[in-house]
Amino acid sequence: MAAAAATATAIFELDPRKETDLDAVVEEIVRLEKKIFPKHESLSKSFHDELRKKNSGLMCLKITNGGEGAEIAGYVMYSWISSLCASITKLAVKENHRRQGHGEALLRAAIQKCRTRKIQRVCLHVDPTRTHAVSLYRKLGFQVDELIAHYYSPERNAYRMYLEFNDD
Ligand SMILES: CC(C)(COP(=O)(O)OP(=O)(O)OC[C@H]1O[C@@H](n2cnc3c(N)ncnc32)[C@H](O)[C@@H]1OP(=O)(O)O)[C@@H](O)C(=O)NCCC(=O)NCCS
Repeated sequence: MAAAAATATAIFELDPRKETDLDAVVEEIVRLEKKIFPKHESLSKSFHDELRKKNSGLMCLKITNGGEGAEIAGYVMYSWISSLCASITKLAVKENHRRQGHGEALLRAAIQKCRTRKIQRVCLHVDPTRTHAVSLYRKLGFQVDELIAHYYSPERNAYRMYLEFNDD
């Protein structure tokens, strides 16, 4: 009997200058982006432009299933908006891979990356009805700063949340 194929997960920073498979990776992310987010919240049309920005980065979750090959199962996007503040601009995990700790691992990795610069806070916007995401952000220490009405659309508001670092 053949041995069961092993599953491996890895989080990696997508470097558009070095990634040999860039188009395929971006295509997978754009497909996920279209599926997970409504049009007005989706970056699917501007992903290549976002990646080219010097002050932003993208980390991807790759799941390799020995028998079935590899897939991009999640991603997190971040940017440095000032010398003191970074922002998480996107976080998503493919539906069939949720509730396995991947979202938390991606968010931790992005926060860690943001902290390589001497910033004091990480902020983000999230629709309060995205309760799973809000709960994840709270779990990692984010607090609600403000409710911004009509942020995403006339019907959709946003929490602005932040995580403060108290380094000396
Ligand atoms: C939010 C999202 C990224 C979470 O990814 P995930 O891999 O399922 O999350 P994890 O398994 O790492 O869970 C980490 C924490 O998130 C929260 N959480 C995630 N899914 C949850 C659910 N279904 N119910 C309640 N809490 C949930 C919990 O606090 C959980 O901690 P716990 O396991 O100790 O309870 C995922 O649900 C998603 O892609 N949602 C759609 C896109 C989205 O809303 N993105 C954020 C806005 S940009």
